[in-house]
Amino acid sequence: MTDNGEGEAVTVQAIRSRKGGPPLVCLTAYGANIASLLDPHVDLLLVGDSLGFVLYGHDTTLGVTLEQMIVHGAAVQCGVRRACVIVDLPFGTYQESPQQAFRNAARVMAETGCAGVKLEGGREMAETIAFLTARGIPVLAHVGLMPQLVNTLGGFRTQGEDEAGAATILADAQAVAEAGAFAVVVEGVVEALAQKVTAGIPIPTIGIGASAACDGQILVTDEVLGLAGDWASGFAKRFAELGTAVQDAAAAYAAEVRGRRFPASSKDGG
Ligand code: KIV
Repeated sequence: MTDNGEGEAVTVQAIRSRKGGPPLVCLTAYGANIASLLDPHVDLLLVGDSLGFVLYGHDTTLGVTLEQMIVHGAAVQCGVRRACVIVDLPFGTYQESPQQAFRNAARVMAETGCAGVKLEGGREMAETIAFLTARGIPVLAHVGLMPQLVNTLGGFRTQGEDEAGAATILADAQAVAEAGAFAVVVEGVVEALAQKVTAGIPIPTIGIGASAACDGQILVTDEVLGLAGDWASGFAKRFAELGTAVQDAAAAYAAEVRGRRFPASSKDGG
């Protein structure tokens, strides 16, 4: 990647080399406009399948399609000049075989221009991660609470709370690192386990609901901005209250239209 005049574009290699360094700053994005606003401030933008909750009002991420990920991935890539853009592979598009994963990941890479893909899973996905990375597709792994496994995990709940569960998650993180993932999202685990995982693997851990003991953090942007609906994960600190600002602006607009105060002149858009 070349310098675009706004700082060097962030590559997956640059993300990988941040292990133990300054914390990685990551957020989700689903469209060009918000991506361009976030771009100067983050290292990585994830086009997450959380768009199933956030944009489409679903209760889980299971109904998200590859076509939706491609449309939103391409839009985000259009808004970005510097951040590393990674696109989620949705449920059912990679679990069947490494070949299925390659076919769909290659489409995502070709049709969005993103830098890599994310997939959920630990030891059971190691072969697929090795297959993809050996064929030019960088992989961000995802262990711990995996939303695509909501039905087998028994809900969206903290993972690895007992010794056996913690050992499984550590083994999962080690497996995806050995398989060639450039970093791993660690979701919904307690601090002691986040510490163990971060110390136990050579690639950066990117936490969500996993304490500050990770090499970086990721949150769903709509939650950070105070725009979350019923789907709010509860992981996110709100850094703004844009939901209230939107409601106030809509109410002010409605009052002016109903009171025939808007538009006051053609310059107002009337
Ligand atoms: O889908 C998503 O947005 C994610 C992140 C929150 C890690 O997986």
